[in-house]
Amino acid sequence: MNVYGKHYRTIWLKEDDPQTVQIIEQRLLPHQFVIEDLTTVDEVARAIKEMHVRGAGLIGATAGYGMYIAALHAPRDSTTAFMTSLTAAGETLKATRPTAVNLEWAVERQLEAIEAAGDDIEEKIETALRMAQTIADEDAEFCRRIGEHGKAIIQEISQRKQGETVNILTHCNAGWLAFVDYGTATAPIYAAFNEGIKVHVWVDETRPQNQGARLTAWELNQHGVPHTVIADNVGGHLMQHGLVDMVITGTDRTLYTGDVANKIGTYLKALAAKDNDVPFYVALPSSTFDWKMRDGVKEIPIEQRDATEVKYMGGLHEGEIKSVLLTPADSPAANYAFDVTPARLVTGLITERGICAASEEGILGLYPEKKQ
Ligand code: MRU
Repeated sequence: MNVYGKHYRTIWLKEDDPQTVQIIEQRLLPHQFVIEDLTTVDEVARAIKEMHVRGAGLIGATAGYGMYIAALHAPRDSTTAFMTSLTAAGETLKATRPTAVNLEWAVERQLEAIEAAGDDIEEKIETALRMAQTIADEDAEFCRRIGEHGKAIIQEISQRKQGETVNILTHCNAGWLAFVDYGTATAPIYAAFNEGIKVHVWVDETRPQNQGARLTAWELNQHGVPHTVIADNVGGHLMQHGLVDMVITGTDRTLYTGDVANKIGTYLKALAAKDNDVPFYVALPSSTFDWKMRDGVKEIPIEQRDATEVKYMGGLHEGEIKSVLLTPADSPAANYAFDVTPARLVTGLITERGICAASEEGILGLYPEKKQ
């Protein structure tokens, strides 16, 4: 994606120092565009936990590069010591955030590849580097394909509306900032926009971290896509008045049964969409499927973050990023970061292989190799 006219991914290796990973410090967006260097596993873990990087796909890609950094610094006296150190680094990374399944997926994929790479440690490090790049490249390519599949849905609505603007509501940021490139929920929007289809995006602010108001609005703006930021509770009203043609969100973990975990508030949007016959789509690469859990509400671990994120709001004041207290200082606050939308509320899943029903049959139809 382009930032001020220059193409960026959200994570890459430093050009003149391939032992350093570079990311965009997303906590400072949209007010400052700052690139941060990561050189140790602790720095990578902190970047994930404190949300310098966030979003399921990017968390996975960052963990992939984190394992490469771990390999660079692991003891080289024996393969056993090397692998023990890598396993510990994997545990450190996995402990940072519990809901996005891409994190565990990337760490396990790295460990398997490095383990299989023979006894030569240099070869193992090379493997970790190649795998980190493969995870990132695959993420970008899968998101591009999601864009192509999802574009067809927008195209159809546009034709039905005889070329009138298609209004799409999205929640949180499942844009390119949440992945390596393109995004998931935004990929069909970018693809449709690039083809000249008239689109307009309702951007939920997404309290408490405001990923919609800060990040989705920023990236849509960079790409020139018409959009309007709305407070979190507006969507239902817009749907009742025919102002939303479809909803597309991302997801941090989708079960093979079709239950979807996504940013807190998604479930309420899905209920409103159902009540108003508005199609509710969820876009995801296959790395976000959980092939083990069956029941989303009962089984998906929901991250609870620090209450200060609810009690304080950040923003720009006189040219500086400041944080201000919103609530009475001693009121307690609770910060549930995700919720689960049951499969029955989801119209369809947009994946890199195509669109399917949010059901075991639909999902395994697209991914038959996952049938047990
Ligand atoms: O807490 P975050 O910002 O890491 O949350 C993840 C998200 O960006 C959303 O839930 C998104 O819709 C999922 S798609 C990456």
